[in-house]
Amino acid sequence: MAKLKSVFVCQQCGQEFPRWAGQCGNCSAWNSLVEEVKEKEPTAGLQRQATPSEVITFPEVERVRRPKARFSTGISELDRVLGGQNNELGMVAGAVMLIGGEPGIGKSTLLTQVALHAVEYGTAPLTKKATGRVLYVAGEESPSQIALRISRIIDSESKKTKGNPAEKAKKPSQGVMEHLLFTTSTDVDRVIQTIKTEKPSLVIIDSIQTMTTTDLTGTAGSVGQIRETAERLTQVAKELDIPLFLVGHVTKEGELAGPKVLEHIVDSVLEMRGERTSELRILRAIKNRFGATDEVGVFKMTEFGFISVDNPAEYFLEHRNIPTVGSATVCVMEGTRPLLLEVQALVVPSQLAMPRRVGRGVDLSKIQIIAAVLQKYSRMPLSSYDLFVSVAGGFVTKEPSIDLGIALAIASSLSNSPLPPQTAAIGEVGLLGEIRSVTLAERRLKEAKRLGMKNIISKQSHSTVAAALIQFGLQYKPKKRNVLVAEDEDFD
Ligand code: TYD
Ligand code: MG
Repeated sequence: MAKLKSVFVCQQCGQEFPRWAGQCGNCSAWNSLVEEVKEKEPTAGLQRQATPSEVITFPEVERVRRPKARFSTGISELDRVLGGQNNELGMVAGAVMLIGGEPGIGKSTLLTQVALHAVEYGTAPLTKKATGRVLYVAGEESPSQIALRISRIIDSESKKTKGNPAEKAKKPSQGVMEHLLFTTSTDVDRVIQTIKTEKPSLVIIDSIQTMTTTDLTGTAGSVGQIRETAERLTQVAKELDIPLFLVGHVTKEGELAGPKVLEHIVDSVLEMRGERTSELRILRAIKNRFGATDEVGVFKMTEFGFISVDNPAEYFLEHRNIPTVGSATVCVMEGTRPLLLEVQALVVPSQLAMPRRVGRGVDLSKIQIIAAVLQKYSRMPLSSYDLFVSVAGGFVTKEPSIDLGIALAIASSLSNSPLPPQTAAIGEVGLLGEIRSVTLAERRLKEAKRLGMKNIISKQSHSTVAAALIQFGLQYKPKKRNVLVAEDEDFD
């Protein structure tokens, strides 16, 4: 095949250039030129005779529409994030799934576990075209490093680990490992040829940033290369109906590295988060063509790979039974699952003209709004206090139902008195200081009760935040009272 020509196209105005430049010569946009493959244009006067595109009738669409067969990845929390109905959760044949996350978070570990499960069990519901093989394209590691990881995961000692018994790493059956194929090639066109000849039942590309095509001159990881290689891999996955995982790096800001179009090309984008110092990892679907977004999976990293955490509350709720100043329990919906989390707040007198508002796991604007509401309707002098609010366990949420919990935690820290134990707060806080109802209240209530919560603070129990604060003795006690309790508040 003749070598394809590549051009640099401005992503703002569409102008083409033969060479890269920092600024577009047409629209003057900076850093907007991206290398793209240019198909050879038909010679002038010799218009290509296009064949008409295929059309299908509605009854045919109906026939094709039947749900695609899913098959399990062997990790129940990953299956839950990938989506599906009832008992049929997991990957869809032909789906391209992008897993993003910081280095060292465990992307390769998770996908190695998926590969091990697929060589053992993953072949049955697959298309007839695919064989039982799994192709792991490891552009980042040497085969010996991968072998080391595999032996770690399938170490029979791991049977001792706690967790979901169905997921304990099992020693693969005899001969099965021969179906696990590795390549360290980073040339996408050669990888695609391998996929076409080997016809594996699952392909894992670790990572898309290492893939290159010689049709482009850009280095591995450049915007043009990422887009082109991802597009070619997607095409072959769809053509052969093979599920394909792509590993993607994230930038320092936590965004997926590479062009936004990468997220448009693939079927699902999953993001793995967590603090490297803690063993807990959270996998969230940001985009999912074959399931719900916002579904989260919770995992624990063990010495022998990941295990699913079926009951995450025990990790996110440390203080539910002990009265603790500055702590409140909330119930958020993550996808279809209610999750109980602990919100913590620390309120200290500020030395700054502009007091600090710091949030971890919650939006800063949320903290500012709630602080303003407390200041106006409960007369808390928060403008002279620094506020720190965080969700325990490294969880990140944007759910409105967390508002009331934040308000209670701030009030608890400022008044230096705890909420009663086994209390959960479910409600959004409005700008008028009112508690508003939230969606799926029944499900949240049920989950809170299941985990032993006896008092539920919500719209049903209190109409305003101020009323709830008064009932639990969390209202601001002005200076006059401080004289009486000066002993334990002398820092104030
Ligand atoms: P890795 O999957 O290589 O991360 P990524 O591909 O996202 O960069 O895993 C990184 C960490 O996981 C590494 O610090 C070692 C640790 N680890 C375990 O704790 N247990 C295990 O069984 C394995 C395989 C890795
Ligand atoms: Mg890796």
